[in-house]
Amino acid sequence: MATTRVLTGITTSGTPHLGNYVGAIRPALAASRAPGVESFYFLADYHALIKVQDPARVQRSTLEIAAAWLACGLDPEQVRFYRQSDIPETTELTWLLACVAGKGLLNRAHAYKAATDRNEAAGEDPDAGVTAGLYMYPVLMAADILLFNAHKVPVGRDQVQHIEMARDFAQRFNHLYGAPGGEPFFVLPEAAIEEQVATLPGLDGRKMSKSYDNVIPLFAPREQLRRLILSIVTDSRAPGEPKETEGSALFEIYRAFAGAEETAAMRQAYADGIGWGEAKQKLFERIDAEIAPMRERYEALMAHPERIEAQLRDGARRLRESHAGPFLHRLREAVGLRDLSTGATAGGGAGAARGSHAGAPKAALPAFKQYREADGRFHFKLVDGDRLLLVSRGFDSPKDAGARLAALRRDGLGDAGADLVLGEGVGAADVEAALGALREAEAAKA
Ligand code: TRP
Repeated sequence: MATTRVLTGITTSGTPHLGNYVGAIRPALAASRAPGVESFYFLADYHALIKVQDPARVQRSTLEIAAAWLACGLDPEQVRFYRQSDIPETTELTWLLACVAGKGLLNRAHAYKAATDRNEAAGEDPDAGVTAGLYMYPVLMAADILLFNAHKVPVGRDQVQHIEMARDFAQRFNHLYGAPGGEPFFVLPEAAIEEQVATLPGLDGRKMSKSYDNVIPLFAPREQLRRLILSIVTDSRAPGEPKETEGSALFEIYRAFAGAEETAAMRQAYADGIGWGEAKQKLFERIDAEIAPMRERYEALMAHPERIEAQLRDGARRLRESHAGPFLHRLREAVGLRDLSTGATAGGGAGAARGSHAGAPKAALPAFKQYREADGRFHFKLVDGDRLLLVSRGFDSPKDAGARLAALRRDGLGDAGADLVLGEGVGAADVEAALGALREAEAAKA
């Protein structure tokens, strides 16, 4: 059976809480044990830098999250477990993808849009306080995914757009650099949206989230766990009064930890008027029963950060050797970052190769380039590789420049006036030959 590669990243910007456990850690570890699946779970510490500029917090969070996943049962022999920043190929690929990513697409990324919308609403410059890191977030994430050719990416709804962008970048790259009919470089990843995964309510009944300051840390010491559970909001019904399970944060949290039978029993206890104090005690015991053995492992792991460090490095080293290193080598070749002594004939590439000076690498087609000068006027030029064949004089509008360019392409140089200047040592015949080559290529395409 072909294996499915499942990959997901965890941003290292906080302390793991019960919501992370129920919504991400527990289901991910269960999924990693399914047959036919190769799981890649990594600590997205480069992503953390976008939000957190407190170095101690980044380090602390990375350690806590790594220890939490290991304590919850991640087996590094079975799951690819690594730290993003230990794989420099990630940033290298980020650049290759940035060079095919449409800027307009990134303009529409939700996180960036939200920032500019907020600024606009506040009457500020739209990009006020927005870093290029935030803007590039989707490209970095695409690199994470595409570097290992993941098939499935389990994410929340808010991240689906990022997976679509990764597909778009992958497609563009495959199209631009892939040999026709050849094996594409990148697999097009799919988002695996976890519909049925519970989002856990927090202490105040809203979704448990650091940004609402309503979390229960996953490995809070027992006494703190008890105190926090006692502070979960309830209504004011007295013991003996029947209680609603609907809308009860306490009940929802209980259900996330209890089996079907226990949940049914709790539902009955609500109907029978269990007191809130007693219900909270039951919840505390239920959670603690599940968490206590993991908490013990967590504390043991946290006492030896050097072991976690070694484990992560080992995970990254193996992946670089088997995947990331060789893959980047292939990609560098594909885009033309190549050994100069090997001759530039291998691989695909833009433009049809055509005859050139004997022994020299085959050049791409000549090309027109349009640009604007510092004086604000619009020009175009015709180049053949490094050789400048011709430049135009300045036009007042890009439209005028474009019209002149089109006429030149169509009609050739003819008795062109002073609006075109040939390059050093270039004759009219060179220009006509270049235009001819362009027309030929056009005809071949049609
Ligand atoms: N952006 C993800 C989040 O905030 C974290 C992440 C980074 C990620 N790189 C990834 C998730 C690659 C899936 C795949 O949750």
